[in-house]
Amino acid sequence: MLKDKKILLGVCGGIAAYKTSFLIRLLIKEGAQVQVVMTPEAQQFITSLTLSTLSKRPVLTAYYDPENGEWNNHVELALWADLLVIAPATANTLAKMAHGLCDNLLLAIYLSAKCPVCFAPAMDLDMWIHPTTKSNVALLQGFAKHHLIPPGTGELASGLSGEGRLAEPEEIIQFLIRFFDDDSLPLSGKNILVSAGPTYEAIDPVRFIGNHSSGKMGYAIAKLCAQLGASVTLVSGPTNLPTPKGCHRIDVTSAGEMLTACLSAADGADIIIMSAAVADYTPAKVSDKKIKKTEDLFEIKLKKTTDILAELGKRKKSKQLLAGFALETDNEEDNALSKLKRKNLDFIVLNSLRDKGAGFSGDTNKVTILDKQGNKTELPLKSKEDVAKDIIDYAIKLIPSTI
Ligand code: CTP
Repeated sequence: MLKDKKILLGVCGGIAAYKTSFLIRLLIKEGAQVQVVMTPEAQQFITSLTLSTLSKRPVLTAYYDPENGEWNNHVELALWADLLVIAPATANTLAKMAHGLCDNLLLAIYLSAKCPVCFAPAMDLDMWIHPTTKSNVALLQGFAKHHLIPPGTGELASGLSGEGRLAEPEEIIQFLIRFFDDDSLPLSGKNILVSAGPTYEAIDPVRFIGNHSSGKMGYAIAKLCAQLGASVTLVSGPTNLPTPKGCHRIDVTSAGEMLTACLSAADGADIIIMSAAVADYTPAKVSDKKIKKTEDLFEIKLKKTTDILAELGKRKKSKQLLAGFALETDNEEDNALSKLKRKNLDFIVLNSLRDKGAGFSGDTNKVTILDKQGNKTELPLKSKEDVAKDIIDYAIKLIPSTI
């Protein structure tokens, strides 16, 4: 599966650099040819001797060898590779990649590479959720042939616990096998954006306007897409659900935050499925102090939020598949069809609150899929996992005509 694949492995300076020794062993075991390139900082964490012994090739660390002046040609190296894997990718290197900085051999190779790039971030929890890092990762995901290997959750070197650990070497290997084995998994190499859950619109520091969405439907879709080989970004409103394995989750609270996260992740997405229950209105003014109950009749002025799906529909690229949901109580099909057209969708998943077992918070759903070609597929009541499968099968069926 990875036999004879030429892998350039970029190692950056973070404590997780020690895990690359296990990664190299697994790559070699799979039959890959591995050329390691270390940033200067990486050499503080693990020696080039260890990595050259394991990879069976001299490790490259600089533009030239100071002993004999031999030049490490970054263009040739970049052209040699079938794939550039950067693991661990530090916040510093991600930022440089996102903005075209080139102050070491690895970055020169990255800028010269025509092959796909898989990057596996590793850093402390707070660095990972910092808006700068989030925006750099979203930028990189928007670049052609760039694939995120999402970090894991657990104990971090700082002693904190959370998301930011380098994916385990075995997980990285599975990701790479899926990546090369294009035919075996229907969504290999695809970038998919899924939104899920409710949004909360603040009234004052302690109160908000929300809805009953559990996020289960969107999470089931995201999970399945990852299992089918896709690189998945899950933009999630507040839920109690664990991050599905292999998904890159971006937590948001309000409709405004969801808009920003979706617009930046949408650029590089092949498929977008907007299943979140986004608030249509948000308080026109948010009080910075807790509102006291002085009035008998209390009114809150609301203003319309941006319709994220409609915005994505306006910006839709020719090879992008866009799907939304419609939750209706009456005149269901007409309403859903009008949303399909108005928001420029390829298909819409309709659920009616009149159907028992359908909708927001339960474990089941009953949906009808309507597409822009005028097809209508009515499905029986099923678990949300099975409905997710039907929706993804539908998207896969439409892929050849759109992607
Ligand atoms: N949606 C969105 N942004 C909003 C509101 C809705 O992206 N501000 C998306 C939802 O994620 C869903 C679709 O639009 O995929 C339909 O949402 P729904 O609330 O059923 O419809 P609306 O367009 O809001 O229309 P209405 O409230 O009039 O039924």
